[in-house]
Amino acid sequence: MKITGKELRQRWLEFYKSKGHTDIGAVSLIGDGTTGVMFNVAGMQPLMPYLLGKPHPAGKRLCNVQGCVRTVDIDSVGDASHFTFFEMMGNWSLGDYFKKEKTAWTFELLTEVFGLDKDKLCTTVFEGNASAPRDEETANLLIGLGIKPEHVFYLPKEDNWWELEGTVGTPCGPDNEWFYPLDAEKEDPVFPDDYVEIGNDVYMQYKKLENGYTPLENKNVDTGFGFDRMLLFLNGLHDAYLTDLFTGVLKKLEELSGKKYSDGGETQRAMRIIADHTRTTVMLIGDRQSLTPSNVGAGYILRRIMRRAIRWCRTLGVPSSAMLDVARIFIEDVYRDAYPLLSEREDYILDEIKKEADKFEATLVTGMKEFDKTVTGLARKNEFMAKSDPAYVPETLIGGKAAFRLYDTYGFPLELTEELAKERGLTVDREGFEAAFKEHQEKSRVLEKGSAKGGLESHSEMAVKYHTATHLLNAALKQVLSPDCNQKGSNINDERMRFDFNFDRAMTPEEIKAVEDLVNEKIGEDLPVVYREMSLEEARKEHFVGVFDSKYGDTVKTYAIGDFSKEMCGGPHVERTGTLGHFKIVKEQSSSAGVRRIKAILE
Ligand code: ALA
Repeated sequence: MKITGKELRQRWLEFYKSKGHTDIGAVSLIGDGTTGVMFNVAGMQPLMPYLLGKPHPAGKRLCNVQGCVRTVDIDSVGDASHFTFFEMMGNWSLGDYFKKEKTAWTFELLTEVFGLDKDKLCTTVFEGNASAPRDEETANLLIGLGIKPEHVFYLPKEDNWWELEGTVGTPCGPDNEWFYPLDAEKEDPVFPDDYVEIGNDVYMQYKKLENGYTPLENKNVDTGFGFDRMLLFLNGLHDAYLTDLFTGVLKKLEELSGKKYSDGGETQRAMRIIADHTRTTVMLIGDRQSLTPSNVGAGYILRRIMRRAIRWCRTLGVPSSAMLDVARIFIEDVYRDAYPLLSEREDYILDEIKKEADKFEATLVTGMKEFDKTVTGLARKNEFMAKSDPAYVPETLIGGKAAFRLYDTYGFPLELTEELAKERGLTVDREGFEAAFKEHQEKSRVLEKGSAKGGLESHSEMAVKYHTATHLLNAALKQVLSPDCNQKGSNINDERMRFDFNFDRAMTPEEIKAVEDLVNEKIGEDLPVVYREMSLEEARKEHFVGVFDSKYGDTVKTYAIGDFSKEMCGGPHVERTGTLGHFKIVKEQSSSAGVRRIKAILE
């Protein structure tokens, strides 16, 4: 290795610190539900309010290395260059320096710190349109620094304008992209064919409107260089899984399977998928917001990733416990220094992986048999029809009902069935699947309503009070401890409530008192508890907390307690908080790693 991951991380941060930047560290990978984005997809995403003008507590020059999760290309993971988790090395000017300093620093970093040849560097700038002018200023600065004039290209908005797609009110602007020959030794490389992009400097000076753009008061810089990509490239490699981030993991998988990564084909594909998906799993479960696999929202995406990895373990011929071995290497070795939280939570992370793997392995084998039966059935039908009708076109669609059965009974995420189908030249009737899903949901709703009629009485008055108290407690914890605290579970009877939430350490007696006081204050205010049904979109806009599942089911039930608490929830609740009595926390203890448990009573 010419440069290790650890060194690259250090050099990036040291360089920008030497230019007056503060390392702000990385934030949670999981979206806060307010922007509607499930995961953090770019280094700038958590900085949006500051790029729009809010003062940042760490100043005007910031840098970090930020993890990102992007699942749009998940089907491509398995080739030499795609990941679902990657890191972005970033630095920012919040209305401080601009193009002159930024071009000079990127140039200095690439040529002096990383030793790239300035005569081979190519860069592209914005050619201009009705919204923003041609970026001659940046082009001239680059040429002044020593980049060959014939290596500076003007390109249109599709290439040299950066914004978060599908958003409004977000910062954006023209960008300057940097390229280098993939094969650094090649004589006379030609742009763009022989080149790869290594990163970009975005000059964020506009705000995106419904139609068009408006200039921002501050002229900002937003820089992003892909960490994993840069590591590959600086080492002269062509396979992103050959950097030191994956060496130990591949060795382990070779040991366990008795196969060689260099065998290529299915073996290589399986090892890459297991490596990438396990890394993402570790990062999401070990995140400070500790995501766990579930059937809704971000938790469902995690489940899909985990189950895909488990399925590929089977293809490779290793038990799903291989994921645990791989996870250990990431936690204890590769990311030990950069993500110390992972080591602290190691047992918890491994435990969650094991639970999901055990659950899915139990149904994977029978589910695969079921899938094979469906495929054989289809093949038989095609054969039969072709005999009697020479013009018959063979059917290649797996029915939605069959796909739903695999989902519902065997836990196959639809995407897994689709992947299996594709491997056999088939497709899945997605609409049919969704229809079957809706029908099933409808049926359960009817059942639920039927039982709720009797069930309501069985919800004792006291249990209803405790239920409302959990909402007050949830809001109070967010306010007193951290907005990142989220409910992880609760259990209520007539005598007490139990409430689990994610938090890294024991609460101090002062914090316990502050939470109690806040809940009692809100009880004292006798706030109204307001029930409303609304669209998921609306709930999201109005900052209701809860699990967002944007895919199925369009309306959600919400309860607001004054302005203090807003949650999506099925109820029932008391009408006003004044009836609850006095709230007291009787115990605060650890539930599992990263999760605390509170026992509380209403006196
Ligand atoms: N926001 C820019 C990117 O994500 C830097 O590439």
